[in-house]
Amino acid sequence: MLSTSISGFVPFVICCVLLLLTGVQGSPASAPTSASGAPSHKAKASKPQRASSSSSTPASIYPPPDLVPSLDSPEVQQWLQEVDLSQAPNIPSNKGEPPTCGTGWTLNPKSCYTPCQECSADDVVTCPDQDVWGLTFDDGPSKATPALLQFLEKKQLKATFFLIGGNVVQFPELAKKESESGHHLASHTWSHHPLTTLTNQQIVAEMKWTEKAIMDATGHKVRYMRPPYGDVDNRVRFVLKQMGYVVVDWSDTFDTLDWQIPLHHRTRKEAEVGFQASIQKYLARKAAGKPGFISLEHDLADINVDLAQTLITYGANNNLTIRSIADCLHDPNPYAAINYAPGVNGVAVGSIPPSSTPKSDTDGLDLPQYRGKTSSTSSGGLSRFSPRQQHFLGNLFFGSRASAGTADGHNATRFSRWLVAVERISWSGAILVSFVAGLASL
Ligand SMILES: *[C@@H]1O[C@H](CO)[C@@H](O)[C@H](O)[C@H]1NC(C)=O
Ligand SMILES: *[C@@H]1O[C@H](CO)[C@@H](O)[C@H](O)[C@H]1NC(C)=O
Ligand SMILES: [Zn+2]
Repeated sequence: MLSTSISGFVPFVICCVLLLLTGVQGSPASAPTSASGAPSHKAKASKPQRASSSSSTPASIYPPPDLVPSLDSPEVQQWLQEVDLSQAPNIPSNKGEPPTCGTGWTLNPKSCYTPCQECSADDVVTCPDQDVWGLTFDDGPSKATPALLQFLEKKQLKATFFLIGGNVVQFPELAKKESESGHHLASHTWSHHPLTTLTNQQIVAEMKWTEKAIMDATGHKVRYMRPPYGDVDNRVRFVLKQMGYVVVDWSDTFDTLDWQIPLHHRTRKEAEVGFQASIQKYLARKAAGKPGFISLEHDLADINVDLAQTLITYGANNNLTIRSIADCLHDPNPYAAINYAPGVNGVAVGSIPPSSTPKSDTDGLDLPQYRGKTSSTSSGGLSRFSPRQQHFLGNLFFGSRASAGTADGHNATRFSRWLVAVERISWSGAILVSFVAGLASL
């Protein structure tokens, strides 16, 4: 009796220890490595997808995810020669991850710094047509993405995905699936750092590596981008324009703040009710020709995708027309190039027509004041925490350098690290319980 228990128990324990080790160390064999050779923190999360990846460009040729790419690589040197930065406005870089508005620094009137300054830049913040909802998801691809794609397919809806380059090279198959399903792909930079804190050259490196990653994975050279944290000023805008990019933000009050749910700062119900209230307020406005709105959501955690399904169903039931940004803007050329083959120089070979029929064309920024001046209000779509709350949240979840404060203001790296950590803790707990149970059975 004892010996049979032991013979069953020992292999079980070994198996658990192995699981624990792979959980803790990631999978060096399949993990993209950073320049220093350390396994990527996302190794575990990306393992299933990496295994089935057919991308012809190995992840190791890309810079490490989460870091601003080095300017020294031959690729970046080449890109810097192709982009004319000589006329860039002389606006100093901001500080902070992300920078916060308000006290301590004077706003340069020429900088038109979003989200801290009110000014009229030509960033896209609305959909031109009435009752049109521009659907966007940031920070993917991730393990949460497939469920979202499945849902959108079922509902026959197209969204714009603002992809992080460092995530694309870890989930190239998901980026490919998105593009093959007719979604609109766009850039959300390589490492999700606030662009106003970077140099002009670093912005080029962030954008071009992401462009390459998406091109290698899907054959599409993107033209649209969303700045991480919505952080953009006239210097950044200039550099982006030199590379042909169109900046897309989101409409005030249509930030779902969904990224706060996994951090337990906001319940799913609160996010749901808040967003539905914004939709009701929008529908109640009878102004003729009022433009549609652009929402901000994330396909970074399952709970976000779950919320997205509820919100989309709600919007559709309220007769809103849900479209990608390319479609809502009726842009017949949402990409700079398509059918690019990895390893070959990319050339423009055509365009992708919008998949929906245009309605009446009205333009204008007719929504409630886009972007407040201060960082301390907590109502409305762009709610921010007080510095004290930020500090608390930061220490709680990400360590003292964290910035959990702005809309889209999580640190994607730390956030996914946190999710992986939770996963590991759960595994360890399960293993411990099995271990004790095993001992008890002896
Ligand atoms: C995110 O966290 C990582 C790891 O702590 C850090 O290296 C990186 O600079 C952070 N990025 C931002 C935008 O705060
Ligand atoms: C949506 O449109 C349908 C068909 O026109 C109509 O019957 C329904 O009442 C509308 N629903 C809402 C919430 O406006
Ligand atoms: Zn983001």
